Amino acid sequence: MTKRTIVKMPGDGIGKVVLDETIRVLEAAGFEADYVEGDIGWEFWCKEGNPLPQRTIDLIEKHKIALFGAITSKPKDEAANELIPELQDKGLVYSSPIVGLRQHFGLDICMRPCRSYTGNPLNFIRRGPNDTIEEPKIDAVIFRQNTEGLYGGVEWSNPPDTVYHALMTHPRFVKNFGETPREEISVSTRIFTKKYTERILRAAFNYAKDNGYKSVTVCEKPNVIRETSGMMYKMAQVIQKADFPEIDLWNTNIDAQMMWLTKNPEDYGVIVAGNMFGDIVSDGFAGLIGGLGFASSAQMNPESRVAVFEPTHGSAPKYADYDVSIVNPIAMIETACAMLDFIGEKEMAEKLRKAVAEVIEEGKVRTYDMMKMSGRPDVVEKGAASTQQMADAIIAKLN
Ligand code: NAI
Ligand code: MG
Repeated sequence: MTKRTIVKMPGDGIGKVVLDETIRVLEAAGFEADYVEGDIGWEFWCKEGNPLPQRTIDLIEKHKIALFGAITSKPKDEAANELIPELQDKGLVYSSPIVGLRQHFGLDICMRPCRSYTGNPLNFIRRGPNDTIEEPKIDAVIFRQNTEGLYGGVEWSNPPDTVYHALMTHPRFVKNFGETPREEISVSTRIFTKKYTERILRAAFNYAKDNGYKSVTVCEKPNVIRETSGMMYKMAQVIQKADFPEIDLWNTNIDAQMMWLTKNPEDYGVIVAGNMFGDIVSDGFAGLIGGLGFASSAQMNPESRVAVFEPTHGSAPKYADYDVSIVNPIAMIETACAMLDFIGEKEMAEKLRKAVAEVIEEGKVRTYDMMKMSGRPDVVEKGAASTQQMADAIIAKLN
């Protein structure tokens, strides 16, 4: 096997800790790789005025696969104040390096698996008949379009002439907003293209087919948002009929879906949605399987095969400087499993998932979130596992 090079981007705060522990776990699982470090995050914003330096982009361009911890973001004014004195008053404006990565590499496919582990005390439970308690097994994988829609960045406040006049050609705009002074209008667009809508749909259907899921659910709002959601659902119908007749196609509205997922989450398999609704529905499912300590994501460009893997959680600054780190590394380890799948190391990924599952089911080693404690430095004294102890327990199962 030729040794791979992985770009590791620890970023800020707990991103550094969970990434280091995960690399230790990957090594124990037998994954051989060289890691090169990519600079990203707050430190580079403050020192260089750029949280995503060009050298990091070049590294990803070269090696294609990146494991990313988390970054810290702050509001515009605060960000400007934290620049080193030499960079103050240069008119630098902070923008998210994650969004920057997605846009630069066209990482249009975002996949967020949400699977419950047996024995996780954070699993969703509900009341069944005759006062029974049910704990449904959840296995949902959300495919979120990652570059278009409401996060496409095409927006205006007090829109310029060309935009305003174009809007005024729409009868609904004239009727609903025609009397509103222009400076009181803000517009964010929701643009879907056929190319990228088809790509996210096909990624979802192919994943369902390859991994034995019986349904794909389009989770949008086609009855109200007719053009974009409507287009996505119509295209899904065509694609399903032509190429995936063995997979059921379901259609839910995002609002109803958020209710259904607390009633019958076990009924859903692969779910596909645009950018905003995909973000919402994946957080909803993540809450059912244990929340931020368990939620992972993969962002991929199927053409160039560039992919960035990251946990859903952020840098959790309040836990970053603990002498003994207490945060749960499982989200980052799950993220690494998605990377292994992507590069064709499926057996290794399964082995690692099995080790995680065994530790959770055994229930002897649990981080503070799994013990429903509030995160304080003394949780380890009180019986919670540290980040490192959780990683050690998983490594012990691998050996
Ligand atoms: P966060 O995800 O960093 O933390 C929220 C809370 O979730 C924490 O205080 C902690 O209680 C819990 N938590 C997070 N990760 C955990 C883990 N691995 N194990 C156990 N508990 C965990 O979100 P927050 O506080 O809203 O944002 C903090 C910073 O992170 C901000 O600067 C924000 O902009 C940034 N952020 C970055 C993201 C990324 O890099 N992808 C995503 C979300 C936020
Ligand atoms: Mg989110």
